[in-house]
Amino acid sequence: MKILIFGASGMTGKHLIDAALAHGHEVRAFGRNVFEQLSTERSHLELFKGYLFTDSDIKKALKGVDAVLSAIGGTTDGGNRTRSLGMKKIVAGMEKRGPKRIIGIGGKSILNAEVDEEDGSVTYVYQTPGFPKKYKAVALEHLKAFQHLESSSLDWTFVCPPLILDEKATGKYNTNCNFPAEGRDEINAGDIAEFMMDELKKDDFLKCRVGIAAI
Ligand SMILES: NC(=O)c1ccc[n+]([C@@H]2O[C@H](COP(=O)([O-])OP(=O)(O)OC[C@H]3O[C@@H](n4cnc5c(N)ncnc54)[C@H](OP(=O)(O)O)[C@@H]3O)[C@@H](O)[C@H]2O)c1
Repeated sequence: MKILIFGASGMTGKHLIDAALAHGHEVRAFGRNVFEQLSTERSHLELFKGYLFTDSDIKKALKGVDAVLSAIGGTTDGGNRTRSLGMKKIVAGMEKRGPKRIIGIGGKSILNAEVDEEDGSVTYVYQTPGFPKKYKAVALEHLKAFQHLESSSLDWTFVCPPLILDEKATGKYNTNCNFPAEGRDEINAGDIAEFMMDELKKDDFLKCRVGIAAI
């Protein structure tokens, strides 16, 4: 498969590149700083300097691609809208010219804490008592990104991790659709990457927010 990775130069993005290459995929790594952050020497890896808010960059990057992974980030103070507006741009580009498959990364804060049995209304994790106030802005950013995916015609999956550790895969983690997974309140970036590789093959979590947790 030829895979386009947004946020490729970030902490999780680098693990996505390693996993995708190890699984035999061709990778196009997108970001503003890919040439500064990533090796130009790896075979099957193409670096693509691009800015998420430039439509023509997204259009060019999507050419010939079979699937998209996104690990886009930004600051967490609420002033930075890269996660929501960036996802909006990616979705718009994909809806115009394909591909249909995208697996992105959000946060545990937008998983369901509770669903009302009578009216189906959802209480998200970030709306529960005790959720740290300082993470509310980034939770709302992830929520908007999720809503762009949810209202799209794409085949999406949105991985919603707790704290991500810059560590290799262990294979020891749990997943859950739309609700937090059982386990520790952290996950290795390598395990997120392996989960995404698996999901590209199996499509087990289409149109799900995925809780994921180290065991
Ligand atoms: N780290 C955690 O513990 C944690 C926990 C839960 C959820 N998450 C979520 O997981 C995602 C990935 O986290 P991370 O820590 O791996 O992120 P990160 O290291 O901060 O990397 C963010 C990436 O986004 C790219 N980016 C930002 N603005 C861009 C723009 N305007 N145009 C193009 N690319 C842009 C950056 O690339 P360039 O600089 O090359 O442009 C970078 O590769 C984030 O959404 C984060 O909120 C993280």
